[in-house]
Amino acid sequence: MEIRRLGPEGTEVPVIGLGTWRRLEAAATRGEHVAVVTRALDAGVRFFDSSPMYGRAEELLAEALGDRRSEAVVATKIWTTSLAEGRQQLARALRLYGGHVELMQIHNLVAWREHLPLLLAAREDGLIDRIGATHYAVIRELEAVMRTGRIDAVQIPYNPRQREAEQRILPLAADLGLGVVVMRPFGEGELLDLDIGEAQLAPLRPFGVRTWAQALLKWGLSDPRCTVAIPATSRPPRIDENVVAGEPPWFGPDERELVHRLALSA
Ligand SMILES: NC(=O)c1ccc[n+]([C@@H]2O[C@H](COP(=O)([O-])OP(=O)(O)OC[C@H]3O[C@@H](n4cnc5c(N)ncnc54)[C@H](OP(=O)(O)O)[C@@H]3O)[C@@H](O)[C@H]2O)c1
Repeated sequence: MEIRRLGPEGTEVPVIGLGTWRRLEAAATRGEHVAVVTRALDAGVRFFDSSPMYGRAEELLAEALGDRRSEAVVATKIWTTSLAEGRQQLARALRLYGGHVELMQIHNLVAWREHLPLLLAAREDGLIDRIGATHYAVIRELEAVMRTGRIDAVQIPYNPRQREAEQRILPLAADLGLGVVVMRPFGEGELLDLDIGEAQLAPLRPFGVRTWAQALLKWGLSDPRCTVAIPATSRPPRIDENVVAGEPPWFGPDERELVHRLALSA
């Protein structure tokens, strides 16, 4: 599978997606989850990541997509040690998202060997398009699941302070032609606590970057082995800010080095 082509029938998806961990529920407490998802769709976001681990996020996402479901590439997960529960989680996701899920991932590799046959059968039956595996840390077991030749994508943390994926996972994903979903592009928001001013970002202006959040997103996506980044936000205006980073031109080594240095500056 060609990298960056996780969309329906191998089409390219815009490279800024939306994560939903904690933030979609936070938006819902303000009555804004539909606004977040609608704003994302309107801004061209297509890839939405969720999980049964994220409280009500899967349901909130389904509700917010509403009759625009067909515009979305839904990536959700199985997260359980129990095979029976895994089957229920898949069935529930299919129910929520109109009988079809584009990317079904095994969350944190929990019981991945046990769940894989279920997902392979679902892919064979056309209920899901692709199979993925995620882990919140870059661990060796990710390589084992990648090397089975049975999955289509991995989801890993990748930001200027968390670059372990560069050592083995990104090269392996490229070798095997797997999609790479970049989670935690802001380090769960921590990287955004840095006080980076306009002057420091000036060299990035020709790349369309005006804010530190955009610089961080473009840093990851400028590695061509990365398919899509999934920043999470509960605030509709931040969607517009974040999607800007999904447009070329991409950073070269100098710009990436600058962002890396700034990220380590605190
Ligand atoms: N094991 C796994 O599979 C796994 C683990 C971790 C994460 N994930 C996935 O990856 C997604 C992203 O990771 P994450 O949610 O941990 O962290 P993240 O996307 O790195 O950071 C999210 C934080 O950034 C803030 N934010 C977003 N855009 C902003 C902007 N333009 N300006 C200022 N603040 C901004 C959000 O707050 P506001 O709401 O206030 O904007 C939120 O606090 C998750 O939602 C989830 O879908 C998967």
